[in-house]
Amino acid sequence: MSQRYKLCVIPGDGVGAEVTPAAVQVLQAVLPEVAVTWADAGWATFEQTGSALPGGTLELAKSTGAVLFGAVASPSRPVTGYRSPIVALRRELDVFANLRPSKGRAVPGADPNLDLLVVRENTEGLYAGRERLDGDVAVTERVISRGGTERVARMAFELAAASDRMVTIVHKANVIRVGDGLWRDACLTVAAEFPEVEMEEGLVDSVAHNMVRQPGRYQLLLTPNLYGDILSDVASALGGGLGMTPSVSLGSRCAIAEPVHGAAPDIVGQGIANPIGAILSAAMLVQHVWGLPHVAQSIELAVETALVSGKRTPDLVSGDVEPVGTAEIVEAVLSALRD
Ligand code: NAI
Ligand code: MG
Repeated sequence: MSQRYKLCVIPGDGVGAEVTPAAVQVLQAVLPEVAVTWADAGWATFEQTGSALPGGTLELAKSTGAVLFGAVASPSRPVTGYRSPIVALRRELDVFANLRPSKGRAVPGADPNLDLLVVRENTEGLYAGRERLDGDVAVTERVISRGGTERVARMAFELAAASDRMVTIVHKANVIRVGDGLWRDACLTVAAEFPEVEMEEGLVDSVAHNMVRQPGRYQLLLTPNLYGDILSDVASALGGGLGMTPSVSLGSRCAIAEPVHGAAPDIVGQGIANPIGAILSAAMLVQHVWGLPHVAQSIELAVETALVSGKRTPDLVSGDVEPVGTAEIVEAVLSALRD
């Protein structure tokens, strides 16, 4: 078997273990030579082994360079020794750019004009972990570096140039003058390297407003960490919901693809989890890591065909349409790929 396409699959907890096998099935149908290795992480792994991200899993993820991740169930209460494995994995693999596309596909509630890519800085901002408590005053530091901003901005402009999208640099530099000021400045420096890419600036609150009022208004949002976290969930809602939305986080050596949803404990074990976010995440690996856009596109087209045929998991069903399960969606996608 060719070792060119190596993939570490970490199903994790809850429906992660239902949607990742579905995605792998579709992936192997279009790329039979992909070499898949399965690895453990998550809450169940923590309970069994005392570590949510065992050393062997981390090593495997680093050596394959491409990870498909399901979801983990993190407890809301602090648990001694437990750290979210996906947050740790993103940091260890230094995947600095999070890409989340949302599209108005053939599902209820999705806006047909929506075709938006959110490119979010993934390692700095308010999620840098610099917090302290001074009596009754909590201080959370927000880290914006020129280097950290320029690398994600460069990736966003390269993607925009390749896909003919307009870039909107999102910030709030009118109020957060130093931090967002540096973000804006570094993004504009990179923008000057790409005179062929159309570009504008947008204040984050006004961008949120416009996204909801006019879902086709934006094509690529380039954002600091927290703004991107929030705006990409808005985009996901405009695109039919959490089960539909894929993502990939890219660094200079590694990539992690994952559906944006969590472990969905309310539906686990019923065979009804929507696998489309996971399937489209695998397609993003195929495109951005393995450089096979035509193969990625065949997966996306097959998903479209399956949706147009009317087969939908319960999260996408309204009225008295009879929903189907995860396996039927996978079968519909595989059948569309065969046609
Ligand atoms: P969630 O995304 O797991 O679920 C929110 C709602 O969306 C639920 O009603 C669920 O049934 C539905 N849903 C999610 N994925 C679906 C799918 N594929 N098909 C159909 N419906 C789907 O978020 P929630 O409930 O806030 O968190 C549950 C657990 O997941 C928590 O332990 C949380 O920490 C974890 N989580 C993990 C994430 C990750 O691993 N990246 C992200 C978000 C939450
Ligand atoms: Mg989020």
